[in-house]
Amino acid sequence: MNIKNICCIGAGYVGGPTMAVIAQKCPHIKVTVVDLNEARIQAWNDLDLSKLPVYEPGLDAVVSEARGRNLFFSTEVDKAIEEAEMIFISVNTPTKTYGVGKGMAADLKYIELCARQIARVAKTDKIVVEKSTLPVRTASAIKEILDHTGNGVNFQILSNPEFLAEGTAIADLFAPDRVLIGGDTTTEGQHAIQALVDVYANWVPKERILTTNVWSSELSKLTANAFLAQRVSSINALSELCEKTGADVNEVARAIGMDSRIGPKFLKASVGFGGSCFQKDILNLVYIAKSYGLHEVADYWEQVIIMNDHQKRRFAKNIIKTLYNTVSGKKIAFLGWAFKKDTNDTRESAAIYVADDLLSEQASISVFDPKVEATQILFDLNYLETRSESDNKNGVQVAVDPYEACHNAHAIAVLTEWDAFKTYDWQKIYDNMLKPAFVFDGRNVLNGEELERIGFVYQGIGS
Ligand code: UDX
Ligand code: ADP
Repeated sequence: MNIKNICCIGAGYVGGPTMAVIAQKCPHIKVTVVDLNEARIQAWNDLDLSKLPVYEPGLDAVVSEARGRNLFFSTEVDKAIEEAEMIFISVNTPTKTYGVGKGMAADLKYIELCARQIARVAKTDKIVVEKSTLPVRTASAIKEILDHTGNGVNFQILSNPEFLAEGTAIADLFAPDRVLIGGDTTTEGQHAIQALVDVYANWVPKERILTTNVWSSELSKLTANAFLAQRVSSINALSELCEKTGADVNEVARAIGMDSRIGPKFLKASVGFGGSCFQKDILNLVYIAKSYGLHEVADYWEQVIIMNDHQKRRFAKNIIKTLYNTVSGKKIAFLGWAFKKDTNDTRESAAIYVADDLLSEQASISVFDPKVEATQILFDLNYLETRSESDNKNGVQVAVDPYEACHNAHAIAVLTEWDAFKTYDWQKIYDNMLKPAFVFDGRNVLNGEELERIGFVYQGIGS
């Protein structure tokens, strides 16, 4: 089957960039990205490309080339479903905040709504592609809904998890390590798989396109994220030991990373991993393991999250201890709020939890992030419901530049590894801070020796 019309439900961090790249690489395919959120769709259609709702290096160029040619953003969900031969589901699957599996299982209500909507609208056969990360066996639930509530048309369900990392989404989509497509072993299933393989084959070398059964594909996504997060928690666990023993975690990481069996990536000690995927996917894995009675398996993976929570809390505690056991009334500057550099995404960012701990100790926090808006920062803190919205507002200022953030501060906490931080006039920052001036580098991104020469008291992670 030759696909000419694709619809993607969900114009978020995954759906938006992924579809923009498919459209750019496949000018012969019409790609329509739909979302219920009108403001988001309006932003995707904004002529000013700096207003796109997702910040990703290179995304503006891709959108500007394809948008209006064969890439469209719309709120007309039904129409796009009806016209498409292939429908990607790329809606959010947050961790449940209620009921059975609260705090662990993925909340599938958005997925189910999508499935019901597709079933209601579809008048011709469709290939439905799961793009969102989903617990194993979700495809079968989608299939049941489609088959039982549909208009008698045929649905094939594929799992095609997205492995892009935020901040490098466009580069990852242009040259993915692999594209994974899971589908039914039946002839119809194999045809559906082939249709999606043909889409990717427009720019991805064939040997990098991997096909499996649906369950393997669904589980591979959770596993990949669990393995990556586990590496971060492993090096972070060692960072605490390094601090006690005089070893330097950067040196240890370098030494072990040169072992080709271990490899150098994902060994950077930090204040803790964030992002919408790692924690959610591991909790999901833990929940699935528990539901099969595999308690040792569940405990094993849960430890990755426990370590990550510990790392965030430890960072905040260390700031308090170093500032003479009290931060009450003290100004602490936060450089960075996003969960990593080159993105405006703040979901599960370590900054939120560190700020929360410090606010509970009555610190006054001044944040500067090159891409995150003030409303988002307050939203993130309010979401935790630790204190009233007005208390959060009183405790947190959002600065227009780093110099304002650090003016008269007792300490600086680096929470995101933005490259720009290295280029600041650190002498000027030092001159305008209270003394002694501390830097707590939660990302080991600054040059500690240089800062110490200026007069700062510098502490990185794991040294
Ligand atoms: C991750 C996976 O990498 C990607 O394949 C999947 O599709 C989605 O989840 P993402 O969350 O965008 O991507 O970012 P990633 O680069 O994996 O970083 C996650 C977190 O780990 C960030 O907070 C990052 O700062 C932290 N991290 C990463 C470390 O602290 N140390 C490291 O060495 C690497
Ligand atoms: P991700 O990081 O997985 O892309 P986001 O939260 O950034 O997640 O994006 C998911 C998008 O899906 C949101 O913009 C949300 O409005 C949209 N969405 C959720 N449910 C539906 C639905 N039933 N129909 C259309 N859009 C939906």
